[in-house]
Amino acid sequence: MKNNFYNKSLISIKSVSKEDSLYIFEMADKLKNEVIKKGKTNDLEGKILAALCYEPSSRTFSSFITAIQRLGGGFIPLNGMEYTSVDKGETISDTAKVFSSYADIIVLRHPVVGSVSEFAKSATVPVINAGDGSREHPTQAFLDSYTIGKHFKSFENITVGLVGDLLYGRTVHSLSLLLSKLGVKKFIFISPDLLKMPPEIVSGLKMLNCEITESESLDSSIGNMDIIYMTRVQKERFSDILVYEKYKLAYILNKSLMQKAKSSSIVLHPLPRVGEILEEIDSDPRALYFREEMRNGLYVRMAIIKSILIQ
Ligand code: CP
Repeated sequence: MKNNFYNKSLISIKSVSKEDSLYIFEMADKLKNEVIKKGKTNDLEGKILAALCYEPSSRTFSSFITAIQRLGGGFIPLNGMEYTSVDKGETISDTAKVFSSYADIIVLRHPVVGSVSEFAKSATVPVINAGDGSREHPTQAFLDSYTIGKHFKSFENITVGLVGDLLYGRTVHSLSLLLSKLGVKKFIFISPDLLKMPPEIVSGLKMLNCEITESESLDSSIGNMDIIYMTRVQKERFSDILVYEKYKLAYILNKSLMQKAKSSSIVLHPLPRVGEILEEIDSDPRALYFREEMRNGLYVRMAIIKSILIQ
């Protein structure tokens, strides 16, 4: 398979093909085996990754830092920009030039839609989008699709349920597009009316011949889902906290709901959860968010970094 990632930024799933995804999945499998056997490789010895998070992150930040170390490289870890010159007013464009001088690759999380693309225009090294506001989170889409691929023979026959804040949740925007490219044809979108999937994403999926069902009721739809993908209502995107309070627990996955779900279904969540999956679900064998999904983020991000830095 061809490596189309080499020396390129990864800003949006729009630029990714099915073959590109399978390339990453295959490499993630290989790297997983190497990590299990030896803990690390020296593939990226001498390479430096800068991780810049203008917004909070636990998983994305830590898994990228772990990934570069397990590939033999070094890192510049900035989880929060408050003690950098960004705090003195340095622009995004100048910050891109600064870190391009020190690192071979930059991972960027930023609260503003389109900011990672803006940053990449001034950077002279590849940039990975680790979340740009409510728009996209492409590496999360890769790790979620990889996890799904481990549990179903093909993407063609599964029904994917995306639940919660589909308006502001960037993971579901990237994930629905990537899954459609991998062959998924049926989606069920569950959200309050105010937090529906953006119409341009729905129309884009329909143009790819996907069947979309939109509903406010998880209870009546959960039995049709192969993937139950729960999301957090994104508090940081609401200008009116009272509106957030109204919707924050619109959907709560509990044991009684899981009794209505297929025995073959799987439950994913990009995390963090803030009440939308009860702890009583964690021991359900279908719940993969702690058991597999997060760890897969390490292998998939190793594969992405390696593909960008080595031809
Ligand atoms: N899934 C995800 O992006 O988690 P973090 O916000 O902790 O990085």
